[in-house]
Amino acid sequence: MPRFLSGIQPSGRLHLGNYYGAIREHVRLQDQGEAYYFIADYHALTSLRDAKALRANVFDTAVTYLACGLDPDRCVLFRQSDVPEVTELTWLLLTVAPMAMLENAVSYKDKVARGIPADAGLFTYPVLMAADILSQDGDVVPVGRDQVQHVEMTRDVAAKFNREFGADVFKVPEYRLGEAPYVPGTDGAKMSKSYGNVVEIFAEGRELEKAVMGIKTDSSPPAAPKNPDDSTIYKLFSLVAPDEREALAARFRAGGLGYGDAKKLLLARVDAAFAPIRERGKALRADPARVEAVLAKGAVTARENARRVLARARKACGLS
Ligand code: ADP
Ligand code: TRP
Repeated sequence: MPRFLSGIQPSGRLHLGNYYGAIREHVRLQDQGEAYYFIADYHALTSLRDAKALRANVFDTAVTYLACGLDPDRCVLFRQSDVPEVTELTWLLLTVAPMAMLENAVSYKDKVARGIPADAGLFTYPVLMAADILSQDGDVVPVGRDQVQHVEMTRDVAAKFNREFGADVFKVPEYRLGEAPYVPGTDGAKMSKSYGNVVEIFAEGRELEKAVMGIKTDSSPPAAPKNPDDSTIYKLFSLVAPDEREALAARFRAGGLGYGDAKKLLLARVDAAFAPIRERGKALRADPARVEAVLAKGAVTARENARRVLARARKACGLS
């Protein structure tokens, strides 16, 4: 059984892009091996410096993942900072991480190009990520395309440490790209919280209606035949109600279905599909102690793993 491990950004209020692009895949993997997921709050410090907001985001992210189907009996869900061993492991890995490798990191270069100040935390972010993965003896790291380079760096650093210290300290992990669909936002561009074009997983009532009815369309009149593949409404509908996609596509092509009515159909499906998730979310939000207990239980298992790996690493390099 492979051990899957992935880090989740504590982004707070998550949207349908996150759900279809990442969360659903994480939930499915619970049945295909040992699944380890953690909320990457140490990593978040490279961009968020607001203690209250960070705490709230970690809680919201845990609630969202649990409501969407992570099952604490079938996976290990923990908070990264509950396993401080990863920071010591980060140091050991930093001593073998080539500067040139870090200087080549695309995500770092992108962030700097966007004007984010280059501090050492941001620069060494991939090594903290390597420590996350290696400290849990992860076999397979399910990630999006943007994180592949980081997993490759993890492989390089793990192999180098093993070589330099002549020991099999670290398991060398592999990445796995999910079949994540591209989820469009209400303006047709990639759904992203930074574009303000999201439909939130927990949106309901007026808020949900406003988001869905606000989807941008062209000016074709209701009678006109329409190409479903050009329509954000149809693309979202296909994800939410795959069994009915063909029927909707036919109605688009035939003409006679206005965008307003198509949006109402989509609204009804989103509302129904996420209703159980919303209900679970409400129950979890009302019981923070239960959420905390899940994270605390996960931390015990994750810490045991990390202590074992760290002990191997310390021994190999001559620390007491
Ligand atoms: P955002 O763009 O809102 O900041 P993140 O970058 O935090 O979202 O994404 C977290 C996870 O959700 C990533 O694994 C990413 O691949 C997935 N994801 C986010 N937006 C989309 C989208 N529009 N389509 C598919 N996957 C997405
Ligand atoms: N860097 C990842 C992201 O931005 C999150 C992350 C942190 C991660 N540590 C990890 C992912 C370890 C996989 C494995 O999405």
